Amino acid sequence: MSSRWPERYVQDGPLPDDPFVLLRLWAPEDDEPNGPLATLATVDADGLPDARTVLLTGVGPDAVAFHTDARSRKVRQLRAHPRAALVVRWDEQARQVVLRGTVSATSAEESRTAYARQSRYLQLLAWLNTPELARLARSERERRWAAFDASHPVLDPPPDWAGYAVEPVDVLFWEGSDDGPSRRVRYRRLAHGWTSEALPG
Ligand SMILES: Cc1cc2nc3c(=O)[nH]c(=O)nc-3n(C[C@H](O)[C@H](O)[C@H](O)COP(=O)(O)O)c2cc1C
Repeated sequence: MSSRWPERYVQDGPLPDDPFVLLRLWAPEDDEPNGPLATLATVDADGLPDARTVLLTGVGPDAVAFHTDARSRKVRQLRAHPRAALVVRWDEQARQVVLRGTVSATSAEESRTAYARQSRYLQLLAWLNTPELARLARSERERRWAAFDASHPVLDPPPDWAGYAVEPVDVLFWEGSDDGPSRRVRYRRLAHGWTSEALPG
């Protein structure tokens, strides 16, 4: 952990010019592959918001990545409206980050590397979380899982494994306090660099 910034980053300041410096402190690389969980919000074709949990598979240097099934509802929504919000929470530290920005697919190479870093369980899940399997009874799902697991000691990514990067236009860091009000800092992307301001709430 860097000693350049105070421990209660948002409460005490000063803060780094680049929000990703702070985000990396809150979500250190050695947490991967079980990096932080985030709520990913998208909108559907009718403009109705949708949300679900995803695992963040990469943080920085200028975007946050997650991986999913390219046939999923979220991907359909993102193809139509390539914008999203992500909420990441660390309850023990009384911290929250909200990022909003544009979403684009990551490269095939990045997706492959990210798949290799996943736990065996998540690698299997990426292959076996299919509509066909979901319709079967639990005993049959478990039988097929065990058979697939036993016959595939090493796995490549399934064809529909896909990575997406959210490049934020703004990033909100929230930090609570035992002794006073919570405090937020909002970073907004400029043509070059970032601007930031402290906010209540
Ligand atoms: C703790 C947790 C972690 C999850 N991580 C992921 C993930 O990294 N990628 C993913 O596609 N789905 C993940 N899911 C499942 C999603 O929340 C969601 O149910 C699924 O992706 C289908 O979403 P969609 O129909 O909106 O596309 C996770 C669920 C939980 C509860």
